[in-house]
Amino acid sequence: MNPALSAVAASLDVSERITPDRVHGSLYTDPDVFDAELQRIFHRGWSFVGHESEVPGVGDWVSRRVGRDPVLLVRTRAGEVTVLANRCAHRGVQLCTGSSGTNGSFSCMFHGWTYALTGELRAVPQPIGQGTAAAELALDRPRAVDRYRGFVFANPSGGAGPLAEHLGVGGRELLDWAADLSPTGELDLSAGWLGQRSPSNWKMWAESDNDGYHLGRLHASLWRVAPGTQYESAALAGEERVVSTCRDRGNGHIELEFWKGYDKDLAWLGTGREKVADYVAALTAARGAERAEELLWKGPPHALIFPNLFLGEMNLAIIEPVSAGQTIHHHTPLLLGGVSPGFNTRVLRQSEAAMGPAGFLLPDDATASERMQVAFAGTGGWMDLSRGLQREVFEGTDRVGHVSDETVNRGFWRHYRAVMTP
Ligand SMILES: [Fe+2]
Repeated sequence: MNPALSAVAASLDVSERITPDRVHGSLYTDPDVFDAELQRIFHRGWSFVGHESEVPGVGDWVSRRVGRDPVLLVRTRAGEVTVLANRCAHRGVQLCTGSSGTNGSFSCMFHGWTYALTGELRAVPQPIGQGTAAAELALDRPRAVDRYRGFVFANPSGGAGPLAEHLGVGGRELLDWAADLSPTGELDLSAGWLGQRSPSNWKMWAESDNDGYHLGRLHASLWRVAPGTQYESAALAGEERVVSTCRDRGNGHIELEFWKGYDKDLAWLGTGREKVADYVAALTAARGAERAEELLWKGPPHALIFPNLFLGEMNLAIIEPVSAGQTIHHHTPLLLGGVSPGFNTRVLRQSEAAMGPAGFLLPDDATASERMQVAFAGTGGWMDLSRGLQREVFEGTDRVGHVSDETVNRGFWRHYRAVMTP
């Protein structure tokens, strides 16, 4: 138990605020709910920290948060990727500022305590008077850190069981899918992250990133400026004509299957295969014709890996909870290893147009989330999430609905309720 957790949050029961088709708005605004989430979701559970490609060289680090705890994702001298608290074990001063860098060791600005890349305390100035032995004063770290296809996750309490269990078959398939798009299986998240701070709750972003119902209305200005995108057949053509689906893969992992509604291959890249013939050839050589053709049709996944990783097609996003009413949505283009520079430039340009404060998508989503936060700020009130309840079907253990259905919201909240109920 985290001693910082309020007694109210520790004993909080949210189960009556979530029914199969309704959720109470106070779950977005109640500070005790937020504190309980930090404990039950981000401390006791697995969440995404970063990708191995972000720290390619020895001593490379990027700064992240696990829940609210500042951490460093670091490449050690042994070539391993580790996660360390970005906080001196002495008086708690932040070791690294900024978003990324390269260090031979980590040295605290206050008294000069110096740590190895693996977090062991290596040097204490004026050591004769030192009380606690250096061997007992390493940097804190999550008890469990694991990775899958280069995606690094942390579970601070160490009690969540194996990462593979949290991801499940569905989560692993989604990460395989993203990595398999690269002919070498490598992603290259080196373009930099752009963080957008929003006065709204983190769960609104998890949901709106995976809401197939709002595209025509909220993002109408995008389709007027950019007609002919793959979303016309995949989401905008009308409820009866659109054949795309959404999928609850379990464990809170949810997906929009726009690819089922595409009208040609490579629709997701906005170009024909002759323009990227070298990519098609490399992917076919690496994956075999059948898998390559599947990937060329589908493009990248559109899915949430619960709780904070959004596989946003050719972008990746981290949803960082700040408080009940504050979130930072960080995104970076999903650049691929083993492709031409021109291919990745195309991905970068697409990302700039869609994401970021000057893009077409996120400002719209941010505005809707902000207005939800304002509207729920009082006593709350209920949200209706019944859309498609009468027509969703099981495929194995997955629940599948029309792409516009709230099958995905219900899946998110079903898992949320399970992990939040003591
Ligand atoms: Fe949106």
